[in-house]
Amino acid sequence: MIYLDNAATSFPKPPQVIRAVTGALTHLGVNPGRGGHRLAIQAGRVVQACREEAAMLLGMEQPERIIFTRNGTEALNIAITGTLHRGDEVLCTHAEHNAVMRLLDRYVTAGDITVRVLPPDRTGVLQPHTLQRFITPKTGLVILCHASNVTGVIQPVARLGAVCKENGVPLLVDAAQTAGVLDVSPIALHADMVAMPGHKGLLGPHGTGILALSEGVDPEPLILGGTGSASESVRQPDLLPDRYESGTLNLPGIAGLLCGIRFVRRHLPEIREYEHHLNRRLREQLEDIAGVTVLGHPDAPAVGITSIVPKGVDSGLLADGLDASGIAVRGGLHCAPAVHTWLGTLASGAVRFSPGIYNTEQDIDDTAAVVERLMKNEA
Ligand code: ALA
Repeated sequence: MIYLDNAATSFPKPPQVIRAVTGALTHLGVNPGRGGHRLAIQAGRVVQACREEAAMLLGMEQPERIIFTRNGTEALNIAITGTLHRGDEVLCTHAEHNAVMRLLDRYVTAGDITVRVLPPDRTGVLQPHTLQRFITPKTGLVILCHASNVTGVIQPVARLGAVCKENGVPLLVDAAQTAGVLDVSPIALHADMVAMPGHKGLLGPHGTGILALSEGVDPEPLILGGTGSASESVRQPDLLPDRYESGTLNLPGIAGLLCGIRFVRRHLPEIREYEHHLNRRLREQLEDIAGVTVLGHPDAPAVGITSIVPKGVDSGLLADGLDASGIAVRGGLHCAPAVHTWLGTLASGAVRFSPGIYNTEQDIDDTAAVVERLMKNEA
């Protein structure tokens, strides 16, 4: 199998990640931070080590501002739900995932907030002067998808974040496709909150995610309950990270994530360069295939994602044909209808290829050859 669906989740995981997950389950299958026995303390240390590793990756001085979540979606839900007030206007990009849009829709439908989707330039990039034009006293939150999960196009978040900062408007960054590839430090991005999955570019297992909170940023928690601290009180503790981490943590997942982040910290520039190289190689070959339209603008900076619309061939059928040839991709709308609307591909959908660290140039060339063959056969 050639796996080109790393934008959905990275696979395979580095062997040390797998060893850490099985090791935690085998030798440390207890509840971290609950009880004072030595295994619970040891498990708590693993969680703390991962928190510190993530803080170092994100250039944060306070590891307790790294909040563990189930995935990127949960991190976004905490940030959005915990920040918005009735009457707020939310500004976001045209590239937001349903993890953002469906939650916003709930509040819009209830009449609590309004949302404005900001127009990008022709390459799909939101310009800082456009953001500035839309900020008003009603702006309660700006949400920026760092890189589209359909086109890979990167938003200039640091420059956009500077605009938010100048205007005193909180910024939430969805780093689902950029954590582990680009710098997603809240300080570098001028972001109040950065949400990311642990199981994509950070190379951790499923069921892991992070919400990074800048100093002084404390949204209302989404889930309340036992934290193993201040147990005498029914009031949710304000202490970080406990305020946001009620219930038993995913210890095996976090043990694996620790090793994933360690790997990423050591190799981030090579990962970025290698995935970019593979993606460029694939994009160039796909552009040469008759009937294939490659989405995203060639001049826009992008992460390692290429999506295509095959002319005269159903994109679902092409994805199925690739699967039958041993190539795993994602067809359809990728839970991101807003960007497909902007691209004009809501009806056709697209076939998405997302290489990862374990792909080879041969994988890329074989994939392009299969696409070419399927396009000839199906057209
Ligand atoms: N959001 C993930 C994707 O783009 C699952 O496939």
